[in-house]
Amino acid sequence: MSSAFIEPGLSAEAVGVHRALASLQEELEAIDYYHQRADREEDPELNAILIHNRNDEMEHAAMLLEWLRRALPPLDGQLRKLLFRSGSITALAAGKAEAGGKGLGLGNLKLS
Ligand SMILES: [Fe+2]
Repeated sequence: MSSAFIEPGLSAEAVGVHRALASLQEELEAIDYYHQRADREEDPELNAILIHNRNDEMEHAAMLLEWLRRALPPLDGQLRKLLFRSGSITALAAGKAEAGGKGLGLGNLKLS
């Protein structure tokens, strides 16, 4: 995905979504960079820093994904269908399997 606009005259909403998607791409790339470097680093202190930084990038990515989920209802639907489930991901995507996990529905919450 390019971080450049491909269409002129975008709405403010589309510009915001583009910014979030471009930022998410950058955060995911940063996760990959840190993960690769940590995988090869032999100095324990530097390795710990690289892992810490990688995990910080995961928080950044998750924050952007959550913003996008709220901004894009179809993405919200896909995430609700596929995330935090067990079993076959492809079967879940095809709607051919009941989620093996409990999901996050309110019906699964136990109040004590
Ligand atoms: Fe970041």
